[in-house]
Amino acid sequence: MKHLLKLLDLTPDEIMALLNLADQLKYEQKHGIAHAHLAGKTLGMIFAKSSTRTRVSFETGIYQLGGHGLCLSASDLQIGRGEPVEDTARVLSRYLDGIMIRTFAQKEVEDLAAYGSIPVINGLTDFAHPCQVLADLMTIREHKDTLSGLTAAYIGDGNNMANSLIVGCLKAGMNFRAACPQGYRPDPRVLDFAAGYGSKFLLTESPAEAAAAADAIFTDVWASMGQEGESAAREAVFAGKYQVNAELMKLAKPDCMVQHCLPAHRGEEITAEVFEAHAAEIFDEAENRLHAQKAVMVMLMK
Ligand code: CP
Ligand code: NVA
Repeated sequence: MKHLLKLLDLTPDEIMALLNLADQLKYEQKHGIAHAHLAGKTLGMIFAKSSTRTRVSFETGIYQLGGHGLCLSASDLQIGRGEPVEDTARVLSRYLDGIMIRTFAQKEVEDLAAYGSIPVINGLTDFAHPCQVLADLMTIREHKDTLSGLTAAYIGDGNNMANSLIVGCLKAGMNFRAACPQGYRPDPRVLDFAAGYGSKFLLTESPAEAAAAADAIFTDVWASMGQEGESAAREAVFAGKYQVNAELMKLAKPDCMVQHCLPAHRGEEITAEVFEAHAAEIFDEAENRLHAQKAVMVMLMK
């Protein structure tokens, strides 16, 4: 494993190795056991979109591993003034030991990896959010002791989270059911991948069908970063139908978890009632970004 660009690139064994390492690093941090695996190493973090969790967990994570993190706003870099990604990749490879990038086009992340010579980590694109889904799988396994054979459901927009959840959960041995409206389906490359899993994968327009007997229900915002101008049009499609609420939760298993990558819009994709009832799991999920990403950095940069 040279990069973490998207979960489609990883084998199931690589995903499990990352989850096991994340558990170990979490244990070490909680028990005050030194784990400076990346002493003297530097991670550059490029942000073309806002971030709370990704920014803080990567910067804290590289510090806890004995390294140093540089936070770089894409608009401050010359890349924001049109310097080609090919050149940016080759320059940053001369200074840094790894790059985390959050941007719009998946191609930019793939190009950074192709032209540079250091590991590249996708910190969210319009296509994928692999770091988040590693943390999600880690959280479900913590709460349920296993992943294989469990059923996950996703209610909402077929966005970066839906794409990465489908791939990550299926590769982890779970069943997956996605409820997305017409016109807002997951990426065709992801649906092609999922088609290989037969009845373990279901795409429906019905949240009730997706949620039935689920072990974990996921949702995400109706309009992602960069889609703010579509908010009203999206609300007209999603409102009143694609929401995780108490009525929907009654269809799932009684001990069904709820996960949300955050930020959450209460009253839109999830009710405040369901959010607060599952807040412990949702904030475990947010915490696990730190541990899962430390595992990614150790795996790629050590
Ligand atoms: N879930 C997530 O990636 O959060 P941020 O946008 O705050 O980084
Ligand atoms: N789908 C959301 C996820 C945020 C972490 C977005 O891309 O804005």
